[in-house]
Amino acid sequence: MRKTSDSNPRHFDERSLDPDDWEGLRSLGHQVLDDMIDYLHSVRERPAWQPLPKQAKTLFEETLPTAASPRDDVYATVKEHILPFPTNNIHPRFWSWVGGTGTPTQLIADMVISAMNSGSLGMDEVASSHVELQLLNWLKLLLDYPEDASGLLVSGGSMANFVGLAVARTHIATYDVRDTGIDVRAHPRLIYYASTEAHSSVKKAIELLGLGAKSLHLIPVRDDFTIDVGALKAAIDSDRKAGHLPACIVATAGTVNTGAIDPLEVLADLAHEEDMWLHTDAAFGGFSKLSNQSRDRVKGLERADSLAFDLHKWLYVQYDCGCVLIQGDKPHRETFSVVPSYLLPAERGLASGPLNFSEYGVQLSRSFRALRPWMALKTEGADRYGEQIEQNIQQAKYLNDKIVADAQLELLAPTALNIVNFRYVGTPNSALDLDKLNAEILLLIQERGIAAPSSTILNGHFSIRVAICNHRSRRSDFDALVDGVISIGAELAPNFTA
Ligand SMILES: Cc1ncc(COP(=O)(O)O)c(C=O)c1O
Repeated sequence: MRKTSDSNPRHFDERSLDPDDWEGLRSLGHQVLDDMIDYLHSVRERPAWQPLPKQAKTLFEETLPTAASPRDDVYATVKEHILPFPTNNIHPRFWSWVGGTGTPTQLIADMVISAMNSGSLGMDEVASSHVELQLLNWLKLLLDYPEDASGLLVSGGSMANFVGLAVARTHIATYDVRDTGIDVRAHPRLIYYASTEAHSSVKKAIELLGLGAKSLHLIPVRDDFTIDVGALKAAIDSDRKAGHLPACIVATAGTVNTGAIDPLEVLADLAHEEDMWLHTDAAFGGFSKLSNQSRDRVKGLERADSLAFDLHKWLYVQYDCGCVLIQGDKPHRETFSVVPSYLLPAERGLASGPLNFSEYGVQLSRSFRALRPWMALKTEGADRYGEQIEQNIQQAKYLNDKIVADAQLELLAPTALNIVNFRYVGTPNSALDLDKLNAEILLLIQERGIAAPSSTILNGHFSIRVAICNHRSRRSDFDALVDGVISIGAELAPNFTA
């Protein structure tokens, strides 16, 4: 602490991190808001992806700043060297992984979130607690999930899966796993079942929960990439005979590779018959419930004991925002509740909030991420989201049909929802190394800034993968992708003969 000039040790020059010139901050803030709106408005004019130039990388080698820099200069650096190089999931031709687009009006929410800087504990009797609970109720309604379910906003689908699978563990185990930990010497091993197409976060969760990767039995899929229910039943039977405890079926409503939807009703019946927990990973597929035309594709979703989904994918909410819902409140709270004396609720005052969110998940302090979807749903209305999601499903069908109609292209998986997988095969009878050729086509499509699909391997073949959670894409964007793949394919083919 700095002493004042009178050298009296009891007088200190107390400061805060607030600006000395609030008007300067105001004017920079206005400038930044203008810049961000322009940035989003003009997104289509920029390439779908561009690499970071050397100069930007030099910035990231600078040493720790110990002294102050003018705020305007710092922003100028960000504007020049950081802002132009996003993942670019905001771009109309971004279809990599399962990238969501976000919406411009959520910029407003972001300013409010940052200014309030709420800890979002839930036990605090403040607006953020009630916004989150209201949002959870709206989400239950949208997904036909029971009203009395508990829920929590989390960072994303991976964390939502972790929470759901943790609840399955405490609920199904015949002993107190929270007390003893997983004990496979004294008790039957808990077995979780998922298809080979389940997301990697399922395996990660099972490992982190101390169950061990041996507790995850991956079940083969059928030609349409949905779980083979016959093989699942056989695995459950054989595990029971071997003295294990079949604990949880993990269904996927929209697999990451192809968008395949496991037979949700059949799996719900099976879990019920076998006395097992049903967790459904509906990271993006769940929101097809909002479309009047497509909602039946995920019928049965609402029967899952725990349901994981992402608002930052197909609800076009800015990163990051996932959600987990659990039937009934008890199993959820029994898994996570730890209430120390410094978090005891009060009858009145600041600590008299509706509930303590830390009793439902890993985090204590959290960002006020509920405000973005809350404001977005209020601004656009839920019906609008249903239409937008259906638009993406129809765009996937449009791309699918274009591929099927062109002999130079080959579809590599059925298009179940909003993900299309295909490759360039060239002219009939051309003997090409298709895996290497298509890998190079994809890189050039990205490097030339034409579009940003990603890739996967399906049945051993390299696939160009287009995942559409993008409200900015138009049919003409998919035309441009197909044209790009065909022309780059023809350009490269002579170098990739088998
Ligand atoms: C089916 C599925 N589950 C889980 C996840 C993980 O979600 P997140 O990236 O939000 O953690 C993804 C991500 O693409 C996914 O597609």
